[in-house]
Amino acid sequence: MKTLIAYASKTGTTEKCAKLLSEQFNGADLFDLQSGNPDLNNYDVVVIGGSIRAGMLHKTAKKYVKANIELLKTKKIAFFVCSADVTRANDFLKANIPADLLARSFYGDSFGGEIDLTKQKGLFKFIVKKMTEAGAKKGTPLPNILPENIKKFADKINSLS
Ligand SMILES: Cc1cc2nc3c(=O)[nH]c(=O)nc-3n(C[C@H](O)[C@H](O)[C@H](O)COP(=O)(O)O)c2cc1C
Repeated sequence: MKTLIAYASKTGTTEKCAKLLSEQFNGADLFDLQSGNPDLNNYDVVVIGGSIRAGMLHKTAKKYVKANIELLKTKKIAFFVCSADVTRANDFLKANIPADLLARSFYGDSFGGEIDLTKQKGLFKFIVKKMTEAGAKKGTPLPNILPENIKKFADKINSLS
């Protein structure tokens, strides 16, 4: 089965996770949605990933889903997000993916996230700095990528064939 992993990343973590996922297969295609629109007709399995900010999926990933929804319904489809809060993966998906498409997906999860202050810009840099300082005071650990979630996701895809 031909697999596409299409992603949209703001500061690189989702891109890193998409690559880590693709490395678990022979010949899955990786596509950065910010560089164009992949032709879905070439694929049987489609994975769409995007980062979460303020509860919202990266707008490029969201737009792509909306523009291709009918074709996506004909594919084996799964979603991942990158988020600091991995426990809310389902909430993030429900809030950002149309319900009828989400109901058809075979899997969805968060791969965790990363917060890199040097990659934030403008007001976000200020907000993230304040948030991480407040978190550090409370002893809240910074988020990480969760390789075990990526492995579980890959296993689900492999179990399709
Ligand atoms: C401004 C900002 C807002 C964020 N909002 C959320 C959020 O609402 N929920 C969450 O779980 N993570 C949130 N995060 C964490 C990101 O999802 C995490 O940093 C992710 O790894 C970013 O992926 P990217 O580098 O691919 O953009 C936020 C991060 C930033 C910088």
